[in-house]
Amino acid sequence: MVKTLLEVFNEVKYPVVGHGKRNVQVLKDTFDHLSGDIDSDIYGTGKVIEDFQAKIAAYLGKPSAVFFPSGTMAQQIALRQWCDEKGSRKVAYHPLCHLEIHEQDGLRELHHLEPVLLADKDRLITLEDVRQMDDDVACLLLELPQREIGGQLPAFEELEAIAAYCRDKGIKLHLDGARLYEILPYYGKSAAEVCSLFDSVYVSFYKGIGGIAGAILAGEEAFTKQSKIWKRRHGGDLISLYPYIINADQAFDERLSKMEHYYEAAVELAEMYNNCGGLTTRPVVPVSNMFHVHADMPKETFEKVLIDVYEETGIGLTGNVREAGQGSYYEVSLGDRYEGIPKDLLKQAFVRLQAKMNDK
Ligand SMILES: Cc1ncc(COP(=O)(O)O)c(C=O)c1O
Repeated sequence: MVKTLLEVFNEVKYPVVGHGKRNVQVLKDTFDHLSGDIDSDIYGTGKVIEDFQAKIAAYLGKPSAVFFPSGTMAQQIALRQWCDEKGSRKVAYHPLCHLEIHEQDGLRELHHLEPVLLADKDRLITLEDVRQMDDDVACLLLELPQREIGGQLPAFEELEAIAAYCRDKGIKLHLDGARLYEILPYYGKSAAEVCSLFDSVYVSFYKGIGGIAGAILAGEEAFTKQSKIWKRRHGGDLISLYPYIINADQAFDERLSKMEHYYEAAVELAEMYNNCGGLTTRPVVPVSNMFHVHADMPKETFEKVLIDVYEETGIGLTGNVREAGQGSYYEVSLGDRYEGIPKDLLKQAFVRLQAKMNDK
């Protein structure tokens, strides 16, 4: 039977993207060296959860933070709260943000909110888009970087101008910071500096940080206190979340300082892609550890090319190609694996990739 791209990718010696496999070994690495006496959290209380919340709140420069099982839950709650406070149902965000395309309309179905889509699908939200927005919008959500367009970022000055405008108009600003750590090297700012522009912030622990799952929602004390009530209403107040929290805490300590390396790796790898005829990256020069690779050939053809390259070189570039008009694309997100890739082999893989593409 012919193997799929994902099957071949899962068997290569050198997968280029991500941190590593998500398997039981991750759990063993997290817990094997720990004392068995550490107590679990219980319904959002206890040292293990409270210490971690305080640590991340301080890192984000916010007075308070709450741990959630998922960003999906945390963000729907954040937007609901800002709407209730203003007495409006309207929130604004990018047409390709996570809430709009990956959450089965949770905001509409669960909270009866009315999202206003700003900007075109293929570009960032600008200050001008925000200026055109109705003043009765309760909250504007910005996703940094904007994942579905390759992980693009506004200039920091534009972000500051948007924040000032929203403050002036009484519109709350919420940060979808699923990849906040990953953009800090490019901005040359601390997390707290970026978060100071926002009224509420969500960050993730399983993307660049590489944990199992989990999210933090941070903001003023009154805001996070209310979010705990919503967490319970959503069924997110699990009796114990400590497996996620302990793992997230370790992954945070281990990988936070590596974000600059991941970013530099993305810049280096994107250049290799852009030197390959028929391929372009978006953005051309990455601003985080991620980018998209666009190919001017259909998905099935591109997959065959990639499978050949993986089988010849042992280098795996992606396990998942998607359709994009006449062509195809995939997302690249770099982590721990990249520095273990022999550079000469990687270069050889790109030589083979070019040759195979020329044959098609
Ligand atoms: C930009 C963005 N926001 C929010 C989320 C939701 O996170 P979670 O999977 O924890 O619900 C994701 C997850 O991929 C994401 O990429």
